Amino acid sequence: MDLKQRVLRILEKNRGRNVNGALMAERLSVSRTAIWKIIKQLQDDGYKINAVRNLGYCLEYSNDILSAESIAPYLLGKARSFKLDVRKTVTSTNTLAKEMAVSGASEGTVIIACEQTEGRGRMGRSFYSPGSTGLYLSFILRPKVDLNDSLLITTSAAVAVAKAIEKLANEDVKIKWVNDLYMNDRKVCGILTEASLNVENGGLEYAVVGIGINVTTKDFPDDIRDTAGAIFSNIPENKPVKSILAAEVLNNLSASMDDLTNRSYLLEYKNRSFLIDKEILVLKGNDVLPAKALDIDDRARLIVEYSDGTREALSSGEVSVRTINAG
Ligand code: BTN
Repeated sequence: MDLKQRVLRILEKNRGRNVNGALMAERLSVSRTAIWKIIKQLQDDGYKINAVRNLGYCLEYSNDILSAESIAPYLLGKARSFKLDVRKTVTSTNTLAKEMAVSGASEGTVIIACEQTEGRGRMGRSFYSPGSTGLYLSFILRPKVDLNDSLLITTSAAVAVAKAIEKLANEDVKIKWVNDLYMNDRKVCGILTEASLNVENGGLEYAVVGIGINVTTKDFPDDIRDTAGAIFSNIPENKPVKSILAAEVLNNLSASMDDLTNRSYLLEYKNRSFLIDKEILVLKGNDVLPAKALDIDDRARLIVEYSDGTREALSSGEVSVRTINAG
């Protein structure tokens, strides 16, 4: 850990309180000038640090620049041992996480970015990921489930993230099978799970769960302007929401990913689902099939009934809610 990270760690641990510069210098075995230079660098990076003669340095409580140091104080239990790699700008945290997984990164490695230039969504779509207003993270798993149960990964992550968002924003979060989270009828989060199959045993070599949350994002591109939303309409002044949210997501993920085959979370997934009992359109290739969403089964597949009475368990594909105008 370099000096900048060590200084940041002390400031983060004392967020909102003054830390004496001389004491910090002594603790880190460097000069006061070295500390002062690092403080200057952090301020240039955008950190809100007040320097008061004789009192020391104080990182403002509301400062919300994501870093491993800013998230660490809010991590609980097993999530404390996760390896956090926080970057300012990346192409896609999923792309990076997959590369790291191939190179042997262990379960619990997490890539977090403040901005993505090539954020990816399902079905080859892009995921709008502007700087500073969202949380974009990818979590590496070495799951002990076979391919048939791989939907459990996305769906249990969806419940974990829904709970985290709800706790911070105090609003109900609904899930649109399989991977979209909605608040006040707007999509506020998408999840993209990518995995590599182990052909020898039919299990998964690794899985990467990519989570994108619009925290305070506004000004969405035209194609999603009418459907996308953010969990806060204004930046909450009084707390570092992105850091707390990242930690909450990881705390919940660590609990739910521990035992994926324990399907107890599926009840909560169903309760949050807004497709069940709705008339929907199932988009399959070029076909658009009217159907009714009946249930979610114990493999997290969506059970639908088509107009001719036949039923199908969908394990992937695109489903959209049928509007009244569409009949
Ligand atoms: C979707 O809405 O279809 C899924 C969106 C998933 C976006 C997240 S952001 C972090 C991770 N990196 C990516 O490139 N995509 C996922």
